[in-house]
Amino acid sequence: MFKPSHLTDEAANVLAGAIDERVYFIQSKRWIAYPKAVRILDHLNKLLKHPRTTRMPSLIVYGDSGMGKSMLVDKFKADCAMGCATDSTPNPNRLLVVELSGRPTERRFFSQILAAVDAPHSPRASIVDMERGTINTLRDVGVQILVLDEIHNILAGSWREQRIVLNTLRFLSNELKLSLVCFGIMEARDAINGDVQLARRFDAVTLPRWTAGKEFEQLVLAIVRNLPLREPSVLTVKGLRRVLQLSGGVSSRIFRMLNDLAIEAIETGDERITDNSVETYKPVSENEVAFQ
Ligand SMILES: Nc1ncnc2c1ncn2[C@@H]1O[C@H](COP(=O)(O)OP(=O)(O)O)[C@@H](O)[C@H]1O
Ligand SMILES: [Mg+2]
Repeated sequence: MFKPSHLTDEAANVLAGAIDERVYFIQSKRWIAYPKAVRILDHLNKLLKHPRTTRMPSLIVYGDSGMGKSMLVDKFKADCAMGCATDSTPNPNRLLVVELSGRPTERRFFSQILAAVDAPHSPRASIVDMERGTINTLRDVGVQILVLDEIHNILAGSWREQRIVLNTLRFLSNELKLSLVCFGIMEARDAINGDVQLARRFDAVTLPRWTAGKEFEQLVLAIVRNLPLREPSVLTVKGLRRVLQLSGGVSSRIFRMLNDLAIEAIETGDERITDNSVETYKPVSENEVAFQ
């Protein structure tokens, strides 16, 4: 079959489909690789390969809401479930993902971890029992990386509650010889850094809002190559600037905008995104401009 060179294989495959199918593809959740995200995934894969030592390296990724943190978590999880390419003994259980929510207490923290591994626990169990249960379960399962998404939710607690949760993190990491990988907004940084011993073992990476430059161009190119349009989309510096301006450099809005424009291009028959279509873009939802 003829494969247009402006598309990825995945996008090219749906090009022959009906309009509905192409729109459905655009609206479906899918992972788009861009250099910064690939670097973070490489880092995570290195953690998976790290031997168990007393001081396990950990990583914290800071970025505003909508910068693609949870997408990274999902992608890493999916890769691990497939058995990481470099993994000689694939064990998807080596990765445990917990999304922190609500006001952080030790009890809630342990129960969120236990729920993530489907381990039953009594709501009346003592903290000591829950701690022991968590340690034993994570050890049995063989967890080597504990991913905590939305780590900034610890900020909802008092200073004392924050200290306790951070202390618990350090304890789990020491006791189980596991790496911690946290994702959260920048505001969490001061809280984390407040626990000097914990902070010391984290490498920190940021996902800043996009600004003009090569990395941003690579992102847009990666997105556009995955949009099943018949004609190649070409954006000049002017069009790219407009994308940045309308999105405020937030990934979620950039993805949303290019997806909307692609659907429009399919429906109108234009079959490509241009500087002009970007220029006249109106967010479908009023929220899009103001949100986050
Ligand atoms: N790598 C990516 N591939 C495809 N879509 C992405 C990617 N990163 C972000 N997005 C889009 O941005 C939205 C927000 O991403 P998300 O990971 O939830 O952000 P965060 O967790 O930082 O708030 C996603 O729902 C998705 O539409
Ligand atoms: Mg998130």
